[in-house]
Amino acid sequence: DEMTPEEREFQERIGRGEKIEPKEWMPEGYRKTLIRQIGQHAHSEIVGQLPEGNWITRAPTLERKAILLAKVQDEAGHGLYLYSAVETLGVSRDELLAMLHSGKMKYSSIFNYPTLNWADIGAVGWLVDGAAIMNQVQLQKTSYGPYSRAMIRICKEESFHQRQGYDIMMKMAFGNPAQKAMAQDALSRFWYPSLMMFGPSDKDSVHSAQSMAWKIKINTNDELRQKFVDQTVPQAKYLGLTIPDENLKWNEDKGGYDFSEPDWSEFFDVIAGNGPCNRERMNARVKAWEDGAWFRDGLVAHAEKTASRRAA
Ligand code: ACO
Repeated sequence: DEMTPEEREFQERIGRGEKIEPKEWMPEGYRKTLIRQIGQHAHSEIVGQLPEGNWITRAPTLERKAILLAKVQDEAGHGLYLYSAVETLGVSRDELLAMLHSGKMKYSSIFNYPTLNWADIGAVGWLVDGAAIMNQVQLQKTSYGPYSRAMIRICKEESFHQRQGYDIMMKMAFGNPAQKAMAQDALSRFWYPSLMMFGPSDKDSVHSAQSMAWKIKINTNDELRQKFVDQTVPQAKYLGLTIPDENLKWNEDKGGYDFSEPDWSEFFDVIAGNGPCNRERMNARVKAWEDGAWFRDGLVAHAEKTASRRAA
């Protein structure tokens, strides 16, 4: 189909690598795609606090507790920058949260899996934050200015998160046999859900082609998944742990590993709301929203009082 002159000019700006800023003209589809993707990303940061927050009171040492607390707070900060970035596209935070709570918007599939023990906190930092960075490093180059700038800071903090996870894994994997077994079990359970974070395979990715033409996405889902596997295999080897995939094999020709695809029916089931923890996560978010109503009301009342005093 034919582009309008405005659309053509927009596409040329994208081609030249220019950043698109909030008040500038953009196609409606570009704006909608950004609201969907950045909003989903923001929700993921916020919902992502739940599986880890679950372990703050049970971290094995004071130092681990302080580190985990800082990390979970960082995730809240990421959610807030990202909500601010979406707000520049003309949708309010309250609207975004209402869409999350009513199931109209998604959050990352990974946060619908439980964290059963301390080794899982290591695996989440190592694999989940590792996968998140692999995706987010390329998003620093995304075409929408506020999103790309938010990504720069988020990536710095995510690399600290990934290292803290790997550090937990090192302690566990080089610990006693029971600890090593826990580390292996955590890797075995989190491996395929981590691969799913990159989204469906390219042939089933409905948004990739248009998002890449607009440089909202820079790499395809499969490209990033491959990079993640290639980065992670040597890290698992160093830990002396086994990735639960009999087909995992170095492929000299492509210069990367061959590996098994995750069970995509499980993925589609999880994003449809039927994963192991979907209900629990959503209930926790809705409860937090409702329990915070008195505080939001107080803020509004205070702002109104201050404004009327100023007017008097
Ligand atoms: N979890 C939940 N939903 C997903 C996931 C996932 N891991 N992957 C894909 N989907 C959804 C898409 O949102 C889309 O559904 P929708 O049309 O209802 O929104 C559908 O599956 C088809 O997927 P794609 O066409 O491939 O979607 P898209 O081009 O948006 O690619 C991706 C998905 C790679 C996740 C992209 O949105 C992205 O890069 N998002 C930003 C990064 C992000 O959200 N990270 C959160 C991870 S964790 C963290 O940061 C703490």
